[in-house]
Amino acid sequence: MTISKSSTGIRLRVPCVEDGAAIWELVKNTRVLDINSPYSYLMFARYFQNTCVAAEDAGKIVGFVSAFRSPAAAEVIFVWQVAVEEAYRRRGLGMAMLTHLLNSQACRGIRFLEITVTPSNQAASSLYRRLAKELGVRCEIYPCFPGWLFPGGKHEDEMMFRIGPLKEMSRKD
Ligand SMILES: CC(C)(COP(=O)(O)OP(=O)(O)OC[C@H]1O[C@@H](n2cnc3c(N)ncnc32)[C@H](O)[C@@H]1OP(=O)(O)O)[C@@H](O)C(=O)NCCC(=O)NCCS
Repeated sequence: MTISKSSTGIRLRVPCVEDGAAIWELVKNTRVLDINSPYSYLMFARYFQNTCVAAEDAGKIVGFVSAFRSPAAAEVIFVWQVAVEEAYRRRGLGMAMLTHLLNSQACRGIRFLEITVTPSNQAASSLYRRLAKELGVRCEIYPCFPGWLFPGGKHEDEMMFRIGPLKEMSRKD
């Protein structure tokens, strides 16, 4: 796993329920991601722990990835949210957390990473295109959840980014 540009000291690990409140704050502070209930982050930390990544710097949660293996397609990992605290951005942390996840034992047999992105989120779409490029695989983009499916009539479309087919990665655990 590589964290470049002076991010040394950041530890990537699975989250625990004690991280739930800090993860909720981190996601809220992005002001871009949908903020879900504090309970949902506890649930991910307990029931999907091995497919999530927490980035910790000096005891503080500065990055988070939540994901799960698709119950309907064993070769797919669906990434739900990726968040990096503002002061830690553009140092390779987002990329490092995703690579760490794909390298983990929990992702054994995964061939596709799926994530949805809104068209206005340039940082996210650049990150996932860059991930596909670094992995040497395709990034297919197609509509997933159109805005009209969401209540209130104000949500952007969610576009699917499907990255793969992935080769077997070198496992770190
Ligand atoms: C998207 C996000 C997770 C990226 O995290 P990050 O740690 O800054 O990303 P990285 O440093 O690993 O960036 C890797 C590459 O992604 C692309 N990228 C990341 N942020 C970018 C931005 N703001 N603008 C354009 N490209 C960007 C670049 O290609 C970058 O490589 P480079 O810095 O060498 O040019 C972070 O900006 C964030 O938390 N945003 C708010 C929440 C969010 O939008 N999450 C994703 C929703 S699906």
